[in-house]
Amino acid sequence: MPTILSGIQPTGRPHLGNYFGAIRHHIAATAEPGEHFYFIADYHALTSSRDPAGLRANVVDVAATYLALGLDPERAVLFRQSDVPEVTEITWLLACVTGMGLLERAHSFKDKLAHGLKPNVGLFTYPILMAADILAYDSDFVPVGRDQVQHLEMAQDMAGYFNSAFGEVFKRPEPRLPESEREAKVPGLDGQKMSKSYGNDLWIFAEGKELKSRINQVVTDSRAPEEPKDPSGLVLFELLSLFLDPAEQAHWAERLRRGGPGAPGYGHLKARLAEAMDAAFQPARQRRRELLADRGELERVLTRGAERARSRARAVRDRALSACGLR
Ligand code: TYM
Repeated sequence: MPTILSGIQPTGRPHLGNYFGAIRHHIAATAEPGEHFYFIADYHALTSSRDPAGLRANVVDVAATYLALGLDPERAVLFRQSDVPEVTEITWLLACVTGMGLLERAHSFKDKLAHGLKPNVGLFTYPILMAADILAYDSDFVPVGRDQVQHLEMAQDMAGYFNSAFGEVFKRPEPRLPESEREAKVPGLDGQKMSKSYGNDLWIFAEGKELKSRINQVVTDSRAPEEPKDPSGLVLFELLSLFLDPAEQAHWAERLRRGGPGAPGYGHLKARLAEAMDAAFQPARQRRRELLADRGELERVLTRGAERARSRARAVRDRALSACGLR
């Protein structure tokens, strides 16, 4: 039976990119035969967080988000990364077989530097910790959005370096992307990739005034509604399409392309997006509130998840330690 694993950083409130690129596929995958592991990458978050209370709250919020959206903790192991310290041991073993050059080529690291971030060593070695996360559980498939593909390839490389030095210890994982490119790379309010660190994200559970005001910030231009437009170039249409069935998508696309009297303006698209998001997430929003009001269930799920994840990682860690001569 395959093992399917993925992680998400608790660096802010989960957004539409996280949902369509990852979370929704994580939850759907639990219907497949296999073992399913989803974790909250709090060690990774520490590369940027300096707010202990905020980090704790975000961890709980990510767990509540998964459960509220329908993850069944009997079918999937939901856990905190830092509850499995074996992962940091495996990180060291992988660090000792990985060249600096591999890390220097990481797009996300270069991108952070380009955005003016002063990097710490943890940020530089981030992909090694991520490889350890994946390899520690003998993962076969890792469902992620497009931005994580290079990190997955690096995990494959690191497994290969270790195995060629010390024998077959780590299993080679494969990335699994959403079928639709629209989901694999969800645009943010400004049209760049949606990302917490760019501040262009839209929280899954935003509602009321907050939802309207964020949607109002989606980039548009000054063309009149009557002017024919290519829908695929419109961020608003891209976001709206994530929520619509194919018939309604085709209907909006056709009206935008045609233009003329009665064609929809950006205001129409915004109103439909707010309505569609509200309808899609309303039940989960309520469930999230209940889970956060009584933390007992969340804590039980995370504690049980930690035990299950840890026993698996311990076995892989032991295998790796003895292969390289540390046992
Ligand atoms: P993170 O927390 O940035 O994102 C979590 C998941 O959401 C996906 N995602 C997107 N998908 C489509 N469009 C977007 N705009 C978008 N933004 C984010 C990401 O691809 C990811 O699947 N390094 C990881 C966390 C991690 C991890 C792991 C993932 C740590 N260890 C091991 C998989 C396996 C990260 O920062 O994801």
